Parts: sequence; C-alpha cells; structure tokens
Amino acid sequence: MFSGIAGRYDLLNHLLSGNVDKLWRRRVARSLQSSLIQGARVLDVACGTGDLSLVLARAGEAQVVGLDFCRPMLEIARRKTETDSRAIPFVEGDALRLPFADETFDAATIAFGLRNLAGVSDGLKELRRILRTGGRLAVLEFSSPVVPGFRALFRFYFARVLPRIGGLVSGERGAYEYLPDSVSRFPDQKRLAELMREAGFENVSYRNLTGGIAALHTGTRAG
Ligand SMILES: C[S@@+](CC[C@H](N)C(=O)[O-])C[C@H]1O[C@@H](n2cnc3c(N)ncnc32)[C@H](O)[C@@H]1O
Repeated sequence: MFSGIAGRYDLLNHLLSGNVDKLWRRRVARSLQSSLIQGARVLDVACGTGDLSLVLARAGEAQVVGLDFCRPMLEIARRKTETDSRAIPFVEGDALRLPFADETFDAATIAFGLRNLAGVSDGLKELRRILRTGGRLAVLEFSSPVVPGFRALFRFYFARVLPRIGGLVSGERGAYEYLPDSVSRFPDQKRLAELMREAGFENVSYRNLTGGIAALHTGTRAG
C-alpha cells in the first residue's frame, strides 16, 4: 500500500492537512530538543519519505537514523536529503524487529507509523528495547478530536472527503479509505498513554494537536 502512494505521499500530506503536518513534526522535534545534542543518536521509525528525520536532524546536532520497510518511501527520503549538509542514514527494516542492539539510541520517534503496525504494544516494546534507560520516545499519531462539534465535522471530512481527494491524486483510493478506518481502530489519547506505561515507559504525557486531530505522546524509558 505504501509503495503505491510513495510518489504522491508528501504532496497529499500537505494538501490534505493544509500544511499543518509540518507544524506537527516541528512539535515533535521541540519535545525532544534536550535529546538532540551532539553525540546523541535518534531513531525515526516508520520514517516514510523522511520529513520528520530531516526536521530532527536540522533541529540539533544529534545523529538521526531513519527506518522504514517500504523501499520506494526510503528512496524518496534519500533523494530529499542527499543535498543536505546533515547525513541521515535511511535503513530498510521492520519496526517490529528493529535491526539494532538493545539500548542503542538516546531518543526515538514514530510519526503516523504506530497505527500501521500489526501490534501497537509490540511496537512500543521494541522501541523501548532500542532506547537506553532514560531515553525519550515521541509518538505522533492521529487521535480523537476533543471538541464535539469539531469532532463530527472532522469525521465527515476524514471519512468522506479525504478518501476522494486522496484517491484522485494518488490513484490509490484504498489507501485513503484505510486511513480513517485505521484511525478509528487506534487507541485514543488516554489509552495510548496507558499502553506506553504498560510497555515500560514512565513520565508519559500527551498534548493534543489541532483540537486532538493528532496527539503527541512522550515518555521516558524506565530502567
Ligand atoms: C503514514 S506513513 C508515515 C511516514 C512518516 N513518518 C511521516 O510522518 O510522514 C507510515 C509509514 O510506516 C511505514 N511502516 C508501516 N509498518 C511498518 C513496519 N512494520 N516497519 C517499518 N515501517 C513500517 C510505512 O512504510 C510508511 O512509510
């Protein structure tokens, strides 16, 4: 599915969100600012076309690594960053079996990726495994809008309008029908925070973005 939409993925992200996705990614970088220091290693899991990896690399001095299992997405990420002064290695791999030793990274991110994994808890435990004790995790994901009227309007847009535009522009309507479907099955803000605690993270908190259309969860790997 992701191979089919890779070529139009960035365009549709910006179009369908009115560019708000860029703001959300900058929020992720800000939430990890203290980890983006020289010598630190940061893994961006399910990096797709590398937009968040780039924002993270540019926001500090850390060595950022991107990982995704979709080669066409990674090829776009590599092309996008080849002229950038910061080298970002993009690795092909599965988020549920990360090809890194335990406790390799000081921080990790996963943006709009956790929802797509076969098991959310398994994904969180794998992220915990590659983080050092005290390492920070940031999860950016679609969530549950918190204002009732806005929620109904957003659901109409997400379920009825977005698949049509996504289908027309990408030629892959199924992928943009899958999006609202997968979001409706994904845990809401509170439940995701619980799942993070259960997976071994502490100091877990979240912030609603754009009225809860998305949420940014952060936590620290417990010892
Ligand atoms: C919606 S895109 C998000 C991309 C990027 N993080 C962003 O913010 O735009 C989801 C990405 O997750 C990747 N993905 C899904 N399941 C994966 C898995 N098990 N292992 C690695 N990548 C995966 C897909 O290939 C796709 O690039």
